[in-house]
Amino acid sequence: MVNSNSNSIMDKLVSLAKRRGFIFQSSEIYGGINSCYDYGPLGIEMKKNIKDLWWKSMVYERDDIEGLDASILMHPRVWEASGHVEGFTDALVDCKKCKARFRADQLDKAICPHTKKPITDDCKTNFTEQRLFNLMFKTFMGPMEDATHQIFLRPETAQGIYVNFHNVRESARKKIPFGIAQIGKAFRNEVTPGNFIFRTREFEQMEMQYFVRPMEDEQWFEYWKEERMQWYSRLGIQKKNLRFHAHGKDELAHYAKSAFDIEYEFPFGWQEIEGIHNRTDFDLQRHQEYSSKDMRYFDDETKDKFLPYIIETSIGCDRTLLTTLIDAYEEEEERVVLHLAPAVAPIKVAVFPLVKRDGMPEIAKKITEDMRGEFRVFYDESGSIGRRYRRMDEAGTPFCLTIDSDTLEDGTVTVRDRDSMEQKRIAQTGIIDFISDRI
Ligand code: GAP
Repeated sequence: MVNSNSNSIMDKLVSLAKRRGFIFQSSEIYGGINSCYDYGPLGIEMKKNIKDLWWKSMVYERDDIEGLDASILMHPRVWEASGHVEGFTDALVDCKKCKARFRADQLDKAICPHTKKPITDDCKTNFTEQRLFNLMFKTFMGPMEDATHQIFLRPETAQGIYVNFHNVRESARKKIPFGIAQIGKAFRNEVTPGNFIFRTREFEQMEMQYFVRPMEDEQWFEYWKEERMQWYSRLGIQKKNLRFHAHGKDELAHYAKSAFDIEYEFPFGWQEIEGIHNRTDFDLQRHQEYSSKDMRYFDDETKDKFLPYIIETSIGCDRTLLTTLIDAYEEEEERVVLHLAPAVAPIKVAVFPLVKRDGMPEIAKKITEDMRGEFRVFYDESGSIGRRYRRMDEAGTPFCLTIDSDTLEDGTVTVRDRDSMEQKRIAQTGIIDFISDRI
């Protein structure tokens, strides 16, 4: 719900995110570090709500998907088997004159970091030959810093699921089709990070790998495409701002037979927020080859042994949070408001005494304490009531309760709805039910 010049929207959102405690630049007191961000009190709450909604839809509401939390550091052979050592690369060129570095496949939209303008034909005459650059972060395990001790920070969470295919299947006694879901950090040494938390070098993924019979891959691919598109309504994201993008042959990742992105219309254009991939038996086959372990599945019904195909749904948590903030952002004449879905909103209800006397703060604090444990609640007695409402509008808080002189007389409080700004009175005793019903 954006209604301002699109160039300025991102700047305004970055500023709101800092002001209200959603997102801060990492290591800010040292001048910051490029493309790394910290989530503040409201940001971490909102991120947790997004992860909970995803986990609920994947794991709690189904009996065919189990959860997993695999380690970030894995055996280096995993990344040889997965194809990342060889193929997870970008082609780069360097400008010999100003030393700026660009992705060779994105020169048509490249901006020079020095002039802040699109690169020119003249710039291109100073470019080096293309060089391949692997996007995986490297480090060493143990005290020896040599090639035999080199390991990688995982660039996707998926591989932790593949190597645990039999562990999860056996321990949870699953038969295909079934899935494994995981939420966790991933790291990519991106050449061109940017657009706030849209493309960063450290980010969180929510990935689900669904193991199916080879002949059934296409039908499950279609199923997951639709399921995933539907899920965004839980975040309150408007349908008109979402679309599918089918990967052409030249766009397909090395592991994919077919792939669709779910794209969102950001202020900087349509961009991917989630990928749905038919990875075939590529990953299990490669792990079988590199580990010499049998990764096949024995089908009790057909008595066949085969490598299952995998349908993957892979969504960035940080990118989803950015999408949700942008979609909820609105500038009205008198206020800026985040129309966040109540399930996503970091604070569900704020409680204000109208004035700091006549026993109102005491009643407001008692109401706050009664709600604590039920939902995230915030007490505020500083500033005019109008200012307090505005602060909560910017935080996306769906309901504000005000305790005033009528409360002292008849035990009712004012409930103000964030979106309509309508106010109504309800009995103090009915507050928890009122809020619960609406979130
Ligand atoms: N396992 C498949 C995989 O990782 P991907 O399309 O490379 O597929 C999936 O990534 C999702 O992860 C993307 O749709 C995006 O939401 C998120 N993502 C990828 N790279 C990212 C980055 N550098 N910063 C933030 N999010 C990223």
